[in-house]
Amino acid sequence: MQPPVNTIEWIGEADDGHLRLLDQTKLPGAVTYLDCRDVETVREAIKRLSVRGAPAIGVAAGYGCVIAAQQGDFLTLADHLASARPTAVNLIWAVTRMKALGSDDPGALLAEARAIHDEDIAMCRAIGEHGAALIEPNTGVLTHCNAGALATSGIGTATAPMYIAHERGVPFRVFADETRPLLQGARLTAWELNRAGIDVTVLCDNAAATILRSGQVQCIITGADRIAANGDAANKIGTYNLAVLAKHHAIPFYVAAPTSTFDFDLPGGNAIPIEQRDPMEVTHGFGPPTAPDGVAAANPAFDVTPAELITALITDRGLIRQINTEQIRQALGLSPQAL
Ligand code: MRU
Repeated sequence: MQPPVNTIEWIGEADDGHLRLLDQTKLPGAVTYLDCRDVETVREAIKRLSVRGAPAIGVAAGYGCVIAAQQGDFLTLADHLASARPTAVNLIWAVTRMKALGSDDPGALLAEARAIHDEDIAMCRAIGEHGAALIEPNTGVLTHCNAGALATSGIGTATAPMYIAHERGVPFRVFADETRPLLQGARLTAWELNRAGIDVTVLCDNAAATILRSGQVQCIITGADRIAANGDAANKIGTYNLAVLAKHHAIPFYVAAPTSTFDFDLPGGNAIPIEQRDPMEVTHGFGPPTAPDGVAAANPAFDVTPAELITALITDRGLIRQINTEQIRQALGLSPQAL
């Protein structure tokens, strides 16, 4: 199955080519593209969420490193790119991997960026294959933010089991939290699932408890921006709320993520850096003020769900049901030293 649109594309050759990104800030109203020919433009695109979602940020950063080499200052510009956003580990993971090549030849770097891109597509598919059976016929699935095709270069992470179940003809319904303050659920998840012919219903974030209590939802699947060694998972603000609600209503809560989203340098979720974004996104998200002039607003972009609230991690290497450092290490095929 193809992703509904090309979110990330390299145009041209290594020496003089450039990065084309679907501008997600314009969705669902318009499908427009941003052409990035210097690192600052790529970095800004990541910061302002033109390209967003942990895996997509990583893939874009890989190509951004090719542009850094074209500009003749690979290492400095690559580090600059890596500082665009702090929470999604895929960004620093991709830049570290590009630097580990030990070359500033745009040709070699483009080959590595393409490898990251291809692997991302394959990891999404594998997450879908492992997770699809969790969606039973005639059930409801709730998701938060956009961990879909738009957030990756494949069929998404949280949405991957949905796309595969749909491909297999399983009937189900998705509830998409609108996801305050920037509405990735309403603008992006609803847009891509609807295009794919999947039954999707948008709800206000604060309607989730009522919908769960109504019996219409049989499982919750979200993505992750960074998963610590013990399985604590950072994701879009509001994910933790859902995990607590899921426990209260005895509904399974799944987190879907590729290997590239695990950070074995951090023992637990308390160490995950949380991005604090502009308060204006809360008070003036889409233009007119929704709060009094000059009033303070808190805008943490992510929260951390403790591993104990997660029923299973859905990874490209399989489901992890007993979530602890040892089980994650084994499931992902990592040596003990890697932890
Ligand atoms: O601020 P965003 O839109 O980049 O946040 C995205 C999320 O929180 C996603 O759920 C996460 O990156 C997983 S994407 C497959």
